[in-house]
Amino acid sequence: MTSQPVLVSGVKPTGDLHIGNYFGAMRQFVDLVASGKYRPFIFVADYHALNTMQDAEEMRRRTRELVMAYLAIGLDPEKVVFFKQSDVPAHTELAWIFDTITTMPYLMRAHAYKDAEAKNKEISVGTFNYPLLMAADILLYDASIVPVGADQKQHVEYTRDTAEKFNRVFNTDLFKLPEAHIMPDVAVVPGTDGQKMSKSHGNVIPLFCTRDELAKAVMSIVTDSSGERPKNVYAIHKLVRSEQELEQIYTEHQGNYKLLKELLIEDLDRYLAPIRAKYESLKEDPTIVERVLEAGKREARAVSETKMEQVRKAIGVA
Ligand code: ADP
Ligand code: TRP
Repeated sequence: MTSQPVLVSGVKPTGDLHIGNYFGAMRQFVDLVASGKYRPFIFVADYHALNTMQDAEEMRRRTRELVMAYLAIGLDPEKVVFFKQSDVPAHTELAWIFDTITTMPYLMRAHAYKDAEAKNKEISVGTFNYPLLMAADILLYDASIVPVGADQKQHVEYTRDTAEKFNRVFNTDLFKLPEAHIMPDVAVVPGTDGQKMSKSHGNVIPLFCTRDELAKAVMSIVTDSSGERPKNVYAIHKLVRSEQELEQIYTEHQGNYKLLKELLIEDLDRYLAPIRAKYESLKEDPTIVERVLEAGKREARAVSETKMEQVRKAIGVA
């Protein structure tokens, strides 16, 4: 077990999940964990989310929903150490130590910081330091791989630089340099208006909704009037049914958008039903989420505390 390479990743509990998130990212993530090649540590990055979500009720609700969503889509809590970042004090403790060896100009080069600057946004210290908390998240567990979306690549580079700097400053080899595992991009899932499906565009098909809500969203998908295949409907349809079957159906019912949308509702509903059922059953027993997070907390604390003892020695406070 201990010889297995470690996988670490964090997910922020922000936003309602939609099928773009599922097909574009969550599914590949779960597959990677299920491959059995790694010892996985996956956590809810609630302290990262605190930069943008400052409402206690919302934090609690979204954290629960995120855990339930990952369990519902097949993340196995027997195989994964699944915990909340805030439950493991070593993360913020190590982030502080990294603060002390990192210069401001270096952090100012981060894309996220530069984007916010360019938009003249007021940036919190927490947002500025975001990459260092993330470095702590990863380095505490001696991660070999960090599966993330392409937008997070730079953060993993910051993590590697921070590990090297610490090792150099304190003349040690305590921190292992992790590699980003950039999840292959599944084609962008279009939203009901044909743009990329995104919570910020208000064009989503929710991952967890009733059949009526699903039907309403699908019926609102824009179709062009060229008489050819309705491309947005088709692009979503092919996520849940083979293209070979779809060729036939879309040729046979060419131009009959209403019927093609009804078929899509059927197919999506069937595909999502088991995930939804699992989610509903998790809602009925609130203790499951608590138990999973409690077990994860214990394990993550044990592993990270051992690392912190070495860190404290290396810097001379112990
Ligand atoms: P949103 O755009 O709704 O805010 P996020 O930025 O939170 O979604 O994305 C979370 C993950 O889901 C990312 O890895 C992203 O690549 C993936 N994702 C989001 N929307 C889509 C989409 N329409 N198609 C494919 N993947 C998506
Ligand atoms: N920054 C990541 C995101 O926005 C979330 C995250 C926090 C993370 N800590 C991490 C991802 C550690 C991987 C490893 O998606």
